[in-house]
Amino acid sequence: MKIEKIRKDFPILNAREGGEPIIYFDNACQSLRPQSVIEAMDDYYRKYSACEGRSIHKFGEKVTRKCEESRKIIAKFIGAKKEEEIIFTRNTTEGINLVAKSLKLQKGDVIILSDKEHNSNLIPWQIKSKEENISLVISPSREDNTFDLEKFKLLMNEKVKLVSVVHTSNLDGVSNPIKEIIEIAHNYGAKVLVDGAQSASHQKINVAKLDVDFMAFSGHKMLGPSGTGFLYGKYDLLKKLNPFIVGGDTVEYSTYDKHQLLLPPKKFEAGLQDYAGIIGLAEAVKYLQKIGFKKIAKQEAVLNKFITKEIINLPGLKIIGPQDYNKRGGIVSFFVEELDTHQIAVMLDSTNNIMVRSGQFCVHSWFANRQIKNAVRVSLAFYNTLEEAQIFVENLKKIIKLN
Ligand code: ALA
Repeated sequence: MKIEKIRKDFPILNAREGGEPIIYFDNACQSLRPQSVIEAMDDYYRKYSACEGRSIHKFGEKVTRKCEESRKIIAKFIGAKKEEEIIFTRNTTEGINLVAKSLKLQKGDVIILSDKEHNSNLIPWQIKSKEENISLVISPSREDNTFDLEKFKLLMNEKVKLVSVVHTSNLDGVSNPIKEIIEIAHNYGAKVLVDGAQSASHQKINVAKLDVDFMAFSGHKMLGPSGTGFLYGKYDLLKKLNPFIVGGDTVEYSTYDKHQLLLPPKKFEAGLQDYAGIIGLAEAVKYLQKIGFKKIAKQEAVLNKFITKEIINLPGLKIIGPQDYNKRGGIVSFFVEELDTHQIAVMLDSTNNIMVRSGQFCVHSWFANRQIKNAVRVSLAFYNTLEEAQIFVENLKKIIKLN
């Protein structure tokens, strides 16, 4: 499929700011949505906006059927063995918090994280470690910011009960060798949680083949509605976990003094859910499948290669992570000595509507450790064009020269 045709599927790409087109390079924060996702959500609100799993009238039945279908589509998309292994959440953060709150660990147990975790995969474990007397160990990256399997192996022992790592980093786009990490962790009897927020819309994931225990995802980073996400968990593990939010539609029955929880995933999905979001998320998955991951990865590599080559030698500019664009998926994060990163972002936005993110991208711990103030992040998607990349590069060169 031609990129011009793909772009027609995304109504927002026709948006104009000050009469000029927009260049959206903030896809790691939120991706854009195709028409099919917007229409599916609109349909729900216009044609059958009722509750799932509760009411037996026509609308109720339709929502229930559509949500069940969504769960099946998502389960198949990530290679889960059964759809009951998919729990709908609001985002990756909620999925990780669910595991952190529910997983039973004991005093003296150890959790390992990488040194590049997003706050969502750091703060819940810091709190758990304080509250439950658990040790938190950070596995350091190599010099080029890629995962160091050798150092990780040295940290592993029987006390480690959980390894929680990001799949693809939102900081520099590097994908971690999760297959190997999972194998090593399992050899010591540790469970593995993977933060899949940034990988799900860029590469094929098969949770069963990976043998991962838990994996958390965000809908809004994979063309889906904002405030949607899902957590994958092996069914037997989910059966043993206690939900951290309970209420409506999580129990078989209740009396004044007891209740019986439903089986997964229902016991984890308390209260009314974002039905339009869940239905829209399945449409996003269908759209990603229609485009295909080969095509997605190819376009992102073309753009990353172009940008990297054009900016890598600019005076004072430093790209974060490996200098080889092949190792950074769809992300180019950089800073320029003597230049304020927020100022760069504002100038890009004000001159040509080039939307990038600046700051620490919720990976404050990494920036603090490396004593780097901030960075600018260009995060690409398959609907971005070479022409957009050229405009970005021209503008960045002007900004650096001006200063
Ligand atoms: N995690 C999101 C980002 O990297 C919000 O922008």
